[in-house]
Amino acid sequence: MTDHSATPKKLFIKTYGCQMNVYDSERMAEALGTKGYVTTEVQDEADMVLLNTCHIREKASEKLYSDLGRLKALKTAKPDLKIGVAGCVAQAEGAEILRRMPLVDLVVGPQSYHRLPEMVEAKGKVVDTEFPAEDKFDHLPTRRALRGPTAFLTVQEGCDKFCAFCVVPYTRGAEVSRPVARLLAEARDLVSRGVKEITLLGQNVNGYHGEGAGGSWGLARLLRALADIDGLERLRYTTSHPNDMDDDLVAAHGDLPQLMPYLHLPVQSGSDRILKAMNRKHTAEHYLRLIERIRAVRPDILLSSDFIVGFPGESDRDFEDTMDLIRSVGFGAAFSFKYSARPGTPAAEKPELPAEVSDARLQALQALITTQQRAAQEAMVGREVGVLYEKPGRLDGQMMGKSDHLHAVHVIDPTAKVGDLVRVRITASSTNSLAGERLDS
Ligand code: 5AD
Ligand code: SF4
Repeated sequence: MTDHSATPKKLFIKTYGCQMNVYDSERMAEALGTKGYVTTEVQDEADMVLLNTCHIREKASEKLYSDLGRLKALKTAKPDLKIGVAGCVAQAEGAEILRRMPLVDLVVGPQSYHRLPEMVEAKGKVVDTEFPAEDKFDHLPTRRALRGPTAFLTVQEGCDKFCAFCVVPYTRGAEVSRPVARLLAEARDLVSRGVKEITLLGQNVNGYHGEGAGGSWGLARLLRALADIDGLERLRYTTSHPNDMDDDLVAAHGDLPQLMPYLHLPVQSGSDRILKAMNRKHTAEHYLRLIERIRAVRPDILLSSDFIVGFPGESDRDFEDTMDLIRSVGFGAAFSFKYSARPGTPAAEKPELPAEVSDARLQALQALITTQQRAAQEAMVGREVGVLYEKPGRLDGQMMGKSDHLHAVHVIDPTAKVGDLVRVRITASSTNSLAGERLDS
């Protein structure tokens, strides 16, 4: 018999993709902890390797298969090594992964992570890509060691929006919101263990409609309840759809001091023709008006977005409309992607643009965003902001933290500790971070 406590088994997790996957990887590590696994950063010493995959853009499955190919040598050297595939590629490909890669032992979709402990103990190969009725989070162990003063909290999963390019509604399934009471309890527990900032996660987080006292609660109501928790100093949420920014949520940005002045609000394109083809169900004008309403209640808010260039049928004019939208909003940050056809999505049926066209557009868009990002950073110089220290900096006595606006800030502050939330005056801006000096409170 194996004595788990005497010889802990080592688990190596590789996480691809979004924050949701980072969160899920942590929870899977905790679930496997119940079977005696401890995590390692060294793949070669692992007893189990888990690849937590992402399917959002192209080459995800090719990347998975080449990573699995590279694991062959390790499996040959250690025949007892368990290899698992989790995440959205697992969901999309299921048993096909076992067929193509016999070295894989288990395939688990994002809704079945709570079943991992049984799955690792099963004899033979197992696949679980169901969408079970129960909430996987109810069956995952309580959260253990924390990485610092910030934490993610998944409040919602799945998406009902069906943007024409996107696999999320297929891989993550329909929108499911976790009940309010559970989230408040989990948040209180995080705070009791030193967390000062919580980022609420969901594929369509502002579509949150969880069961709470008196019926269904929207995200704004949840944020207000979270803001009442003593010691919870900062709240953020991501990722949102413009059509789900209701009046209450906009108002919350004005009246909740804990809700930080940074909002990631993907628009994808500035052309109404393309937005329609993308099935986004909003126009550029609608987005611009929404930004005006948010800025009216929180003038210093920093905005970020996602853009796709080279969507099928995108003309030069359409692309210019996107550039115009960017110019009129002024973003503090943005993620931009070349359109990548995802099998099974409606847009994948349409002819693609030549790669050179998309490449050139992506470059132009990124150059514009970089200019805006620099300008937003420069505009912080001289201003006073809150900074939550996350780790020591590289210099002696230096701390690194995030500002209210999510900028990385370095401060020389020899007596400070990780987890301190301090007032800082920004003194300089460099490529990817700001420098500041601590103000006496
Ligand atoms: N091609 C390119 N980008 C995509 N995204 C989602 N699907 C695709 C695709 N098929 C981008 C969107 C989304 C972000 C998470 O990834 O911009 O907001
Ligand atoms: Fe995908 Fe976001 Fe559209 Fe949902 S709202 S389908 S997650 S791009």
